[in-house]
Amino acid sequence: MAIAPILKKAYWSLAIAGGIYIVFLLFLLNGWVQRQALYAHNVPTVWWHDPNKPEQFGFLKNQVHPFYIDTPDGENLFAWHILPLSSYIANENALIKEGTSSWEDFATSTAFKLLADDPESRLVINFHGNAGTIAQGWRTDTYRMLTSGPVEKLHVVAVDYRGFGYSTGSPDEKGLIVDGVAAVRWALDVAHIPAERIILLGQSLGTAVATAVAEHFVVNEEIEFKGVVLVAGFSDLPTLMTTYAIGGIIPILSPLRSYPFLQQIFARNIQETWFTARRLANLVRKSKNVALRIIHSQNDFEIVWTHSNTLFTVAANATIDKGLTEKDIDTLKDHHDRGEYGWTNSWMTVKEDGGRISIKQDIVRHGGHNRITTYPMIVRAIASVFSLGEPS
Ligand SMILES: *[C@@H]1O[C@H](CO)[C@@H](O)[C@H](O)[C@H]1NC(C)=O
Repeated sequence: MAIAPILKKAYWSLAIAGGIYIVFLLFLLNGWVQRQALYAHNVPTVWWHDPNKPEQFGFLKNQVHPFYIDTPDGENLFAWHILPLSSYIANENALIKEGTSSWEDFATSTAFKLLADDPESRLVINFHGNAGTIAQGWRTDTYRMLTSGPVEKLHVVAVDYRGFGYSTGSPDEKGLIVDGVAAVRWALDVAHIPAERIILLGQSLGTAVATAVAEHFVVNEEIEFKGVVLVAGFSDLPTLMTTYAIGGIIPILSPLRSYPFLQQIFARNIQETWFTARRLANLVRKSKNVALRIIHSQNDFEIVWTHSNTLFTVAANATIDKGLTEKDIDTLKDHHDRGEYGWTNSWMTVKEDGGRISIKQDIVRHGGHNRITTYPMIVRAIASVFSLGEPS
């Protein structure tokens, strides 16, 4: 007799949860709601930290310089320039004397000169994932690792997309690509760093931006970067949405797994598609030389690592005019099992015109979705793209 009320209670809880989920889904058909969920840029993290005070995040005085990048459509993007630690130490007296860095004086600062006037400086332009700011979570650890690592004179520029942190505007796919292009234009035209000294690094949503930006420059301006590094990427948004869970916890379309028809309806209604696999294939096809690094962890609960397999396969396939099957690529790629580390795949092609294509993939066991960006496989990938040596 005591069981019935409990069942009844369970039934009602389920019904209520199901009802809330259906309302959530209906809301998700709306483009504005979709953008809020996808970009999560309104999560107000600047309330409890201030990206205008980089020392709050453990940097040395004036090691990081905040500044703004203007976009051609009138937005102002908040950005950070992070000095390589070795350059900082060598120039510490001059840097400290400049007082508190403010974005107005960046162009005349010692930090800017160390980036722009040194013919050996190298630059990583970092495109972060959704939510928060350039100073969010593990992101600052990534900059610290890159600028303290084995790559000499490696500077980092990190940028907040429109609508994030102190940047103006509100995000959408087209706008984020404009922002990424503007950040690169700043590096090329203002800091005068040639593309062969620039690597684009993206994580999560940032992989979609980095790929679209690299494709833009190859297709429209015949400019090729030294490399593109994609961490925890995804093939496209409609596919991702069928498995994605916000923060690895709140599922979006995966509860509809048993109803592929319903999943399709929602997937088709996603307005921001971010067809990254397609862009990546085009990038590889149009480039003379490509160095692509694809990294993903198996315990990434937000974006399942198989997305990075799609990216690898599509990129490798694009090196062969007539195309290959997935099975061909599986057989032909150079595969190494690295035990507890995970495994690596690589694909090297020399094009008829002498261009070299190097695509490498690390599927690691550990690192999750975000923390992986602080792990040494990232800096190692960047070192290898700058040809600092790496075993096959
Ligand atoms: C490879 O590319 C060709 C077109 O060149 C396409 O028909 C084929 O489906 C692709 N294969 C894979 C595995 O993506």
